[in-house]
Amino acid sequence: MGKPTTPRPPAVPDMKTGADLAAVLPITAEVKDGHLFVGGLDMVELARTQGTALYVMDEATIRQQLRDYVKWTRFHWPDVDTVYAGKAFMSLAMCKIVAEEDCSLDVSSGGELAFALRAGFPMERIYVHGNNKTPVELIECLEAGVGRIVVDSFEEMERLSALAVERGLTQSILLRVTPGVEADTHDFIMTGAEDSKFGFGRNQGLAMQAVKRAIELPGIEFEGLHMHIGSQIFALHSFAKAIEVIVEFMREIKDATGVEVRLLDTGGGLGIAYGLPDEPSTIQDYGKVVVDGIKAECERWGLTVPRMAVEPGRSIVANAGVTLYTVGSIKEIPNIRTYVAVDGGMSDNIRTSLYDAHYEALIANKADQPREMVATVAGKHCESGDIVVNDAPLQCPEVGDILCVCATGAYCQSMSSNYNKQVRPAVVMVNNGTARVIVRRETYDDLMKCELG
Ligand SMILES: Cc1ncc(COP(=O)(O)O)c(C=O)c1O
Repeated sequence: MGKPTTPRPPAVPDMKTGADLAAVLPITAEVKDGHLFVGGLDMVELARTQGTALYVMDEATIRQQLRDYVKWTRFHWPDVDTVYAGKAFMSLAMCKIVAEEDCSLDVSSGGELAFALRAGFPMERIYVHGNNKTPVELIECLEAGVGRIVVDSFEEMERLSALAVERGLTQSILLRVTPGVEADTHDFIMTGAEDSKFGFGRNQGLAMQAVKRAIELPGIEFEGLHMHIGSQIFALHSFAKAIEVIVEFMREIKDATGVEVRLLDTGGGLGIAYGLPDEPSTIQDYGKVVVDGIKAECERWGLTVPRMAVEPGRSIVANAGVTLYTVGSIKEIPNIRTYVAVDGGMSDNIRTSLYDAHYEALIANKADQPREMVATVAGKHCESGDIVVNDAPLQCPEVGDILCVCATGAYCQSMSSNYNKQVRPAVVMVNNGTARVIVRRETYDDLMKCELG
């Protein structure tokens, strides 16, 4: 899912209060009586009743983002599928929300497929990803009756064909193509080398070879193409450039084989606001650039406009989530920095250690006060790199405060671990003044359930 980096805001007290952080918080966030509220609930009270560390997801934000994608992509073309990328945040409750919003679901492992199955997600709306799906996973997909498998290599194509033939099935497939366009947050790079473990490179002719093979193999039906140019993308012209490249490839396919691409999936990647200086594009603008771009390029080459799919993950759930922690200790190192240590860390949010990601933070029980100091929020793990937020403007912290890290709804819980045998936090879905524990906190017994002694 790429290495999204966000330019760091200057490490100075910015005197902002919780009310100034709306751009990075769920849409229902508000400050009342000095406390942060999300989904109509007091986050300080929720931390007290549910314990910390705690992931909180705002259902209204998730549903609004899904609806915005459906609305603003179909505004330009009626046949666009919004496919939520489950890797960003997956739970049974999330699968049910995606199903209720009439969206599709991207799964990238047998485990994610198992969640979709358990949630009763309609299998015809499943897109299966992964650069090395195991034979067992391919069989699970065929037996579940998934809608589409996005094929990533020649070996996988042959394997899938044989497995489908053995079962008397024909599986619809997309081929993942590396268009040679890589998105940077603010720009794009044309990469001649197409150095990626994913997909078939277009420039060296591998993608065309794959299309020809897919057309001739039994047991699979070539439905179309897939691409994904990166994550946390701010520059919409990166998508426009990649669309130019892939639609031109659709024309080459038609010229070479007579076959028209019926489904074009342009992947995910739309950026979100992690920090206050971030100015991501809107879903409305994204929909226009992607859908109108495909239509215009098809018109240019005289191609039938295909069915389209977009695969957002981060932009559906990131700003819907916050993580609540309790401040356990405060270390002020004179003239160097202040460390505020919390009861979680790299086990519930690896993104800071992994990508040098940046977040906004606030003290939920002092949400109406200005962030008048700068501190580094440190985790409790045995790694000096275990930092949750570097140089965060913050209200003056005290032991026992509830510290809230914003925009943690994507790629935090889904990338969490049990490092140091830390139990994973619960996930609470809040909506209209009610809290529902959708994933319970792990216990020490959970940690030991696979141990055979
Ligand atoms: C194939 C594919 N589709 C969709 C996504 C979702 O991307 P994002 O969360 O940036 O929207 C990813 C993320 O890595 C991906 O690999």
